Amino acid sequence: MKNKSQSTKVNTLAIHAGISPNPHTGAIVDPISQCSVYAQSYPGEFKYDYGRSMNPNYYPLEEALAALEGAKYATVTSSGVGAMSTIITLVKAGDTVILPTDLYGGTYRLFVQLFGTYGVNFKQVDMSDLDKVENVLKESAKESAKGTGALMLYAESPTNPMLQIYDLQALASLAKKYSAISVMDNTFATPIFQNPLSLGFDAVLHSASKYLGGHSDIVGGAVMTNLESIRERTDFARKSMGVHLDPLSMFLLRRGLKTLPLRMERHEKNAMLFAKHFEGHKVIKRVIYPGLESHPQHDIAKKQMKGFSGMVSIEFALKEEELKKLVSSFSIITLAESLGAVESLVQIPSFMSNKKIPEELRKSHGLHDNLVRFSIGIEDVDDIIEDLESALNRV
Ligand SMILES: Cc1ncc(COP(=O)(O)O)c(C=O)c1O
Repeated sequence: MKNKSQSTKVNTLAIHAGISPNPHTGAIVDPISQCSVYAQSYPGEFKYDYGRSMNPNYYPLEEALAALEGAKYATVTSSGVGAMSTIITLVKAGDTVILPTDLYGGTYRLFVQLFGTYGVNFKQVDMSDLDKVENVLKESAKESAKGTGALMLYAESPTNPMLQIYDLQALASLAKKYSAISVMDNTFATPIFQNPLSLGFDAVLHSASKYLGGHSDIVGGAVMTNLESIRERTDFARKSMGVHLDPLSMFLLRRGLKTLPLRMERHEKNAMLFAKHFEGHKVIKRVIYPGLESHPQHDIAKKQMKGFSGMVSIEFALKEEELKKLVSSFSIITLAESLGAVESLVQIPSFMSNKKIPEELRKSHGLHDNLVRFSIGIEDVDDIIEDLESALNRV
């Protein structure tokens, strides 16, 4: 729904956008509307009809999400993958979607392995090389001009799990030049550190299961846009495909958003100290963190992000068995697939989140089995550092 909030400052928006005291009770928190069906005064006359299409908990949430991304509209979905499912309905058989080489494994599974079988063409390109991106766009635009095909450019930045940074303004303007719809998965940066719509993207999506919710207690997603045509399509797709969010998760997500700016500040501070501490360690080949000067796209990150977020990837000089033992032996950092929560999490993408990407393809894009992805939480950072230090001493 539309963003009606007055302030444009994130701390105020995170707390107040979409929320006003209940006119009947004065309650300053919206109750959970645990109701699936609503009475109609006359056939077809209603404010809400059925829980799959609408629910009173959508309003405070969608207004806050839209406001934080600087968007007019937000569509809340059942998960990040649910958000991608609504977005992919903007294309049809014969159309082409251009993806980065490094991306979340579930995106590859949904797009390439599922929608690819319905005739949508997916092409992967290293998006840090703008000439390559332009060539693929040019070639795909020529192909689609022969038929009726549309084009979409779909990016992540920082990417999952290699934390590559792409020049979002340049990508969005290339997409415009070739009339491609541009979509950005902003899950890793969050609206606190990066606003792709202001850099020219048509739509932004999130896994709200990560930083937006922030407490590892919900699975949710969202699409934000300034284009009514995209909002109409994602709302329609949500209702048609049944990828709506349940009322309790909507309530928890709206509550989680209130502390998003505060949490992100601490995630970033901890991640920076963690990354700096382990850079140069004797069994570590490379620490990848966009905030480090050694990051190949550090300058672009500085230009387009307000902070570097809380994800750190490390390539270890350890054998596979040693690495698996290492990640299983922490006392505070938890071995788990997700990210963006208050608690620190760790995983090995090749054996976990990115397992569904064929091994050869993974390796040709530089994702090797020795890369470990840390989601740095908001605990006392000395404890997180000590956890990895002592695990390294044990192996
Ligand atoms: C970058 C990114 N986008 C989207 C998703 C999918 O989100 P969800 O698990 O909420 O479906 C994930 C999940 O890990 C992710 O890392």
